[in-house]
Amino acid sequence: MTEENEMLLSAGAVEALLAWYGEHKRDLPWRRTADPYRIWISEIMLQQTRVEAVKRYYTRFLEAFPTVQALADAPEEQLLKLWEGLGYYSRARNLQKAAKVIVSDYGGEMPPDAAKLRKLPGIGDYTAGAVASIAFGLPEPAVDGNLLRVLSRVDACFDDITGPAVKKKWSERLRSSIPQEPERAATFTQAMIELGATVCVPNGAARCGECPLIPWCRAKREDLTDALPVKGEKKPRRIEDKTVLLIRDGERTALHKRPDRGLLAGLYELPNVPGHLDADRVTELVRGYGFEPLRVRRVEDAKHIFTHIEWHMIAYDVRIAAEPEGEHVTSGLRLVGQRELHERYAVPSAFSAYTKYL
Ligand code: ADE
Repeated sequence: MTEENEMLLSAGAVEALLAWYGEHKRDLPWRRTADPYRIWISEIMLQQTRVEAVKRYYTRFLEAFPTVQALADAPEEQLLKLWEGLGYYSRARNLQKAAKVIVSDYGGEMPPDAAKLRKLPGIGDYTAGAVASIAFGLPEPAVDGNLLRVLSRVDACFDDITGPAVKKKWSERLRSSIPQEPERAATFTQAMIELGATVCVPNGAARCGECPLIPWCRAKREDLTDALPVKGEKKPRRIEDKTVLLIRDGERTALHKRPDRGLLAGLYELPNVPGHLDADRVTELVRGYGFEPLRVRRVEDAKHIFTHIEWHMIAYDVRIAAEPEGEHVTSGLRLVGQRELHERYAVPSAFSAYTKYL
């Protein structure tokens, strides 16, 4: 990095950036509001999820929970159902935890203070800075992966952006470049995010011809754009083999509620076991659950990639004799009708290769 006291972006660069944003910004639902609650929800959804995918979830979620109070009071099952498919479900649980704190400690209004926001569950430095600047116009930095890329390039900086201290360092360096006027501080954060998302993009696809920061970009001048940012080697993901069971009695399908802690906590899943089992072992297993398998048929394989884990799934469609209604006592599984399964139960998209047939 260059000298700590040097302005990262000059006043001229900031002007060019704000003017560019005014002309080229995308019309996104969370840009049509000044409501801090809505901006917070959008920022949480946009972590790890693409803008196009978020739009639909954002609208539906805010129809169901239009206020902090409504979110605080939401039944967990409904909350998780509305999050179904977005992934990283701890984000949804933390939203609700934070909503409860906002109701109890701040009278239901988000505090206009980055340090107070930062203390709420699920709100880290980035989200606190994003809400503080976008919603409240405070001159706070909001440095996410997009900004790390833009700033590394503008400054031709070879520091590894995966390091833990790097966001803090960039945030502090960026601080002196943020305009002080509320409206411009808000626009600055959004403009930086927008530039990283639409122009200063990764993987050799940067559209430098459209970039307002070109006169100030050291990477461009030194032909380093595609070499930056530097990202350290990632640890390879752990591979887990699984056998997934579509246990059906003709009308209903067996679901299992995952434990309240850990990966996909508290969500409903198709019953599954570690390893790749053959049909005979599956028959035994299903008998062990207390069902009578009438037919066991192998169906397609599927793979699901989480951040640190890959599930390599094989699956069997297991037809069982008709069962009485309600929770199945021996196995703890729940037999659920098709409509109920889709409307009520949150099943993570790791199983979508199979749930799409139900
Ligand atoms: N990614 C993170 N925050 C965003 C925002 N406010 N608009 C568009 N993309 C984003």
